[in-house]
Amino acid sequence: MSQQTAAPAEALRLPDAARDGYHQCWYPIAMSQEVAAGKVISKEFLDGRVVVWRGADGVARVHSAFCRHMGADLGVGSVEGNHLRCIFHRWEYGGDGRCVKIPVTDAIPPRARLFNFPTEEKWGLIWAFNGEKPLYDLPHFPTLSEDQIAHSVFECAPLPVPTWLIVGNTHDFQHVRAVHNATMEKEPEDFDMSGMTVEFKNEVTDPNMGFSKQHFKLFGTNTVAFENKFEKMLIMSMYSGTPINGGRTKGYTVTATPRIPNVDVQAILARGEAFGKNIMAEDDVLLYTIRFKPEMPIAADRHLMLWLQRAARFPAAHPSQSFIT
Ligand code: FES
Ligand SMILES: [Fe+2]
Repeated sequence: MSQQTAAPAEALRLPDAARDGYHQCWYPIAMSQEVAAGKVISKEFLDGRVVVWRGADGVARVHSAFCRHMGADLGVGSVEGNHLRCIFHRWEYGGDGRCVKIPVTDAIPPRARLFNFPTEEKWGLIWAFNGEKPLYDLPHFPTLSEDQIAHSVFECAPLPVPTWLIVGNTHDFQHVRAVHNATMEKEPEDFDMSGMTVEFKNEVTDPNMGFSKQHFKLFGTNTVAFENKFEKMLIMSMYSGTPINGGRTKGYTVTATPRIPNVDVQAILARGEAFGKNIMAEDDVLLYTIRFKPEMPIAADRHLMLWLQRAARFPAAHPSQSFIT
């Protein structure tokens, strides 16, 4: 057994958000279509709550949800121009999260600011980074850029497991065979798991879709983007999970395919979505019931154990904790 294989369970300290904070990743918070200009909604995020809102300028923003005055949920407030207004005493916050107006006074407390998450919008999703400054770029597909592809997005039902465990499934090649009935034609060699992203290639035959060459790229511990090159088409998928209250994970899936003249792109996207939903349905019963304890890893678990070691040492923090809870 190589040294890489030999991670005995007692040596592996699995990530624990309550102890260390949450992994510093880009997390999808809402779908773009949920937040029109002039609208605000609030959503669970990590162990608390955030608002996602869009001012008249069209820019999506993510802030801690609770008004600094007395804790009203700003998600039931309103957007006035480029300000977010609290329903309770009508304090107003600007795009950087600072309170800019209190109707009854000009004396604004300097600490009257919301937690201002770094926010970006792409792939039909509004993303927030868990930290003051992003540690890596927003997730993308391995080779093709946004202007080359058509894409669609859907939300997945929450699962009662941490995000790093769901995404770790991509490194569990025994489960690809056992749960998804696929044949691994070519397993990836060992690959570098030291950075913010992980990349590998393999070849697989799926019982429904046939043979494909796969190119995976993982971002942080919560997002996997991959290209599936079948004989006649290229289907890309991106799953990204977001930790929500109670140690659960909410996920979104983006499906994409190259824009090619005279090719029915919508039909390929529909096929890709059905493929993704089928794979997730096959994992569901397992992920709803598991109590994850890697007590007896064997040689065939090598890649998964490396992923777990990576998750254990991945930067974790919780700078928004006192704002969002
Ligand atoms: S609680 Fe928001 S203004 Fe008072
Ligand atoms: Fe799976």
